Amino acid sequence: MIAFTSQLGIEHPIIQGPFGGGLSSVKLAAAVSNAGGLGSFGAHHLTPTQMREVIRDLKTATAKPFNINLWVSRYDPGADEMTAAHHEAGLRQFGAIYERLGIEAPPMEPPDDFSFEQQVEVILDSRPAVFSFVFGIPDAEILRECNRRGVLTAGTATTQEEAAALDEAGVDMIVATGSEAGGHRPSFLRPAEQSLTGTLALVPQVRNITRKPVIAAGGIAEIRGMRAAFQLGADAVQIGTAFLACEESNCPPPHREALFTPSAARTQLSRRFTGRLARFMSTALLDELENSPSPALPFPLQASFNHPVKTSGVRHGDCSLLPLYAGQAAPLIRHRKASELMSELISALS
Ligand SMILES: Cc1cc2nc3c(=O)[nH]c(=O)nc-3n(C[C@H](O)[C@H](O)[C@H](O)COP(=O)(O)O)c2cc1C
Repeated sequence: MIAFTSQLGIEHPIIQGPFGGGLSSVKLAAAVSNAGGLGSFGAHHLTPTQMREVIRDLKTATAKPFNINLWVSRYDPGADEMTAAHHEAGLRQFGAIYERLGIEAPPMEPPDDFSFEQQVEVILDSRPAVFSFVFGIPDAEILRECNRRGVLTAGTATTQEEAAALDEAGVDMIVATGSEAGGHRPSFLRPAEQSLTGTLALVPQVRNITRKPVIAAGGIAEIRGMRAAFQLGADAVQIGTAFLACEESNCPPPHREALFTPSAARTQLSRRFTGRLARFMSTALLDELENSPSPALPFPLQASFNHPVKTSGVRHGDCSLLPLYAGQAAPLIRHRKASELMSELISALS
């Protein structure tokens, strides 16, 4: 097997995990790629035109390889439009919160008018070195076309079963993401609640079933975690929360500061902020939503109800109103600059 780094044309087997929903930045991805790792940009929420602009900016900011990430499934079943019933169910969860904050309920907006396939067109045209994806497997035709155009594909597995499905479909690399990770649980074969294998157990299980590069993600924030991942058979590590905390990311400042407080030690998995299961720091707002007798709406409808609360949090610099995405390794974070985090990790590789 060709070494992971030579296959990608990078110096170090360190990937900055992509962040969707606006938290990625060109500055962060370019800093990591320029330091010899693989920078990533989470683009699932961007229109094809916005994606083209980001990729153009990335190409200006770095001559090194980078990764663009998309979500294969962009809507849960039945959530491609907001019905009156959804609107009422959303208000049952959020009505009292809106009233307390003096903010308006969201309008019944039409769904996005672009598809995953249209986003993939941009990938095929602009040819980033790597196209990574979560929440499923793209059609065989898409994977073939990426291969033909020299774009390496990286699929994401939360279980050994998902890794086998990605391997069988012919993706080039597999990200094995344990349940310690920050962000969404991108399971696609079974409900995320039934796919919570931790990184320590998942990485060797994925190693056992494939000869392709395995990328360990979840709970890695410093040298000890990185070394452990290599011991388990990983070819590379993907680090999210520790890069989110760096000043180059697009993380709202109150969220970033929260990652450096003792409260970052308490995280929980919840569907209440977006409709899909994700790991967040525990907050009174999340408790309040969890205690609502009305269930969370499917993705992305739940997210549209949380949106005005989040916007108010950003506007007032109030982290108690933000979805504080964080992985379980958050208390291990020390660096505020991506270059410093990269230097520390690289120092342990020789
Ligand atoms: C705020 C946030 C957003 C994320 N969004 C995405 C995404 O859109 N696509 C994806 O593949 N991974 C996403 N991830 C996962 C990260 O890329 C990475 O795999 C994960 O954070 C690794 O675990 P760690 O946080 O313990 O380091 C996200 C993680 C966070 C913290």
